[in-house]
Amino acid sequence: MPNLKLSGVQVLFRDARQQPVPVVREVSFETQPGKTLGIVGESGSGKSMTALSILGLVPFPGKVKGSIKYHDKELIGLPDEKYEKIRGAGISIVFQDPATALNPVFTIEKQLVETILAHRQIETREAKKQALDSLMGVDIPSPEKRIKDYPHQFSGGMKQRILIAMALSCDPDILILDEPTTALDVTVQAQILDMVERIQNFNKMTIILISHDLGIISEISDEVAIMYAGRIVEHGTIKDILDNAQHPYTRGLLDSIPKLGVHKAKLNAIGGFPPNPSELPSGCPFHPRCPRKIEKCVQQDPPYTMNKLKFACWNPGPTNG
Ligand SMILES: Nc1ncnc2c1ncn2[C@@H]1O[C@H](COP(=O)(O)OP(=O)(O)OP(=O)(O)O)[C@@H](O)[C@H]1O
Ligand SMILES: [Mg+2]
Repeated sequence: MPNLKLSGVQVLFRDARQQPVPVVREVSFETQPGKTLGIVGESGSGKSMTALSILGLVPFPGKVKGSIKYHDKELIGLPDEKYEKIRGAGISIVFQDPATALNPVFTIEKQLVETILAHRQIETREAKKQALDSLMGVDIPSPEKRIKDYPHQFSGGMKQRILIAMALSCDPDILILDEPTTALDVTVQAQILDMVERIQNFNKMTIILISHDLGIISEISDEVAIMYAGRIVEHGTIKDILDNAQHPYTRGLLDSIPKLGVHKAKLNAIGGFPPNPSELPSGCPFHPRCPRKIEKCVQQDPPYTMNKLKFACWNPGPTNG
């Protein structure tokens, strides 16, 4: 049974002339307990807006349309006081920018305890105990001592662990990690992903992992959704995506993953830049950059086929060469 189901989700803003600008277009996917869905795409493809739409946190005056069901509950249009109960305890997020997510003037203990007390009706003393447990859970050394420290006393990797502890402190079913390791070096990235996977094995939560790096996503995801210009252009199991990707954009991302032992990875295998959402090209928005473009691609946006592999492309194929 899926615990979250997005159907035809759109996020719309307006441009200076009050015309609607869709930054997320027709996004549909489901998530399952104990499984990880990776969402990959270049900067501006709508990954964070999709995450924010799930939590009801799309900034004003953005509008969300479609359907987002958490278990059987429709979240779009839910009043804020009801949403508050789902945020944290049901669906939790680690935001993209860790530097601004922790308050510099309070200790880690105070911030963890406040998060816990906001969702649980327990004594402060019990909340302090849970805060300490959650720090232990994310492998902070000497947690009894470190919990009294301020954010600036921790390294980037440790801050990221603390944010994950905070997101986990209310025991959510679904944890969204928006670019959780982008600012960190490769070894620390791997350690954090290992830790997240270990916690997931234990508590069977769903993880939605957002990254621009398909290499990172492929480390721990069961399924992968590839986003381009606000839309999912290909979606499949990790094996399907790695072995049998059909969309030329996915192929370009795969070709950009640096491979161990290969001297010259074709970094930046996809030339050009993603389009601005207010000036999408005609037809398929990827066509100006696409090595497999045919005439139809310039005229019509391809529908999303719902086979075993789901993709939106008029001229799919296993290679770009
Ligand atoms: N408050 C806003 N008002 C209008 N447009 C916005 C707003 N915030 C973001 N956008 C636009 O929405 C689009 C999607 O942004 P989003 O932050 O979801 O991208 P992303 O895939 O998370 O990119 P990144 O990898 O850089 O984090 C972008 O074109 C962005 O410029
Ligand atoms: Mg983002």
